[in-house]
Amino acid sequence: MTDHTYHVTSPGRVNLVGGHTDYAGGHVLPFATDLQTRLAATPADRVTVRSEALDDRRSFATDDREATGTWLDYVKGCYAVLADAGYEPGGFRGELSGTLPLGSGLSSSASLELAVLALLNEADDLGLGRERLAELGQRVENEFVGVDCGILDQFAVSLGRAGHALYVDTESRTYDPVAVPDDLRVVVYHTGVTHELVDSAYNDRRATVEAALDALGVDSVQAVTEADLAVLPDRQRQRLGYVVRENERVRRANAALVDGDVATVGAVLEAAHRDIAANYEASCEELDYVVETAIERGAYGARLTGAGWGGAAIALADAADARGVARSVHDAYRDCYPEHNGRFHLVTPSAGVSVERPGQ
Ligand code: GLA
Repeated sequence: MTDHTYHVTSPGRVNLVGGHTDYAGGHVLPFATDLQTRLAATPADRVTVRSEALDDRRSFATDDREATGTWLDYVKGCYAVLADAGYEPGGFRGELSGTLPLGSGLSSSASLELAVLALLNEADDLGLGRERLAELGQRVENEFVGVDCGILDQFAVSLGRAGHALYVDTESRTYDPVAVPDDLRVVVYHTGVTHELVDSAYNDRRATVEAALDALGVDSVQAVTEADLAVLPDRQRQRLGYVVRENERVRRANAALVDGDVATVGAVLEAAHRDIAANYEASCEELDYVVETAIERGAYGARLTGAGWGGAAIALADAADARGVARSVHDAYRDCYPEHNGRFHLVTPSAGVSVERPGQ
């Protein structure tokens, strides 16, 4: 009997450095994780999806464009943006599972969008390339879910390459894979802190940076030097100043990775964290604690990853030490913040979203 099921594997993402540069046309240095979302799907008239993690099953017609305010919008939104681009893929019956934790700062939402987009691309032979899938994923967030994010998460999830980070220019949307040494591990430490203010703070920073770029008459941080900032009002100078330095740090981290110089990458991450905490004010006490403790316990460097204001931090360590560093941070964190559900994962750079066709 032929198997009619498509099997989709969609990673999460970690951003090594390049925080809040992606909506200013700057550089980022993410990779796709080996923690993944899985979607097993068979073609059907409607869309019916069950999420194992949420123990929730939902269904909608492929032309239903009403947002629900639930996780289903990441699926529905794919149909909305595809329709807008002139495609009308069929429905499916699917089961979502996998190892990627939800809401842990590893882009489970981008992972889900890209799983669905890649499935529909394959099942309906839409012929969309990976860059295009990433852009459509970003539009699901921006236009359907209502989150004003940049392209970072979707780019990493769609274009990730095993053993590599991606040095992405978000202005030209071009990228170069850069090898991550085999013996390096990235510890992701989730603080268990979710601040209500994340969305409003994110939009506030984005608006300030965009206003500052406008005032300077440029579209991208790549056209700005620190000397140009002098004419800006204080707050714009402070926020865009961080973005200018962060963009420069991405270049330095990429060059150091090319040279296999992990110690320099670590030092760049540490400087990035200090700057984002002091000048972008996107950290919080718990993230600062994890970053300091990880460095004190032997990590090459550490910083918050993702938007900030809670969520996760990353730390770089040799493969042989990584679990020890993570455990030691975890013990300290639990003593200091017993009220938070702190947890960690060790991740390695992996391939972007992939679809196995039925019968393969
Ligand atoms: C979130 C957004 C990304 C990016 C980061 C900050 O993860 O989804 O687009 O802006 O914050 O670097």
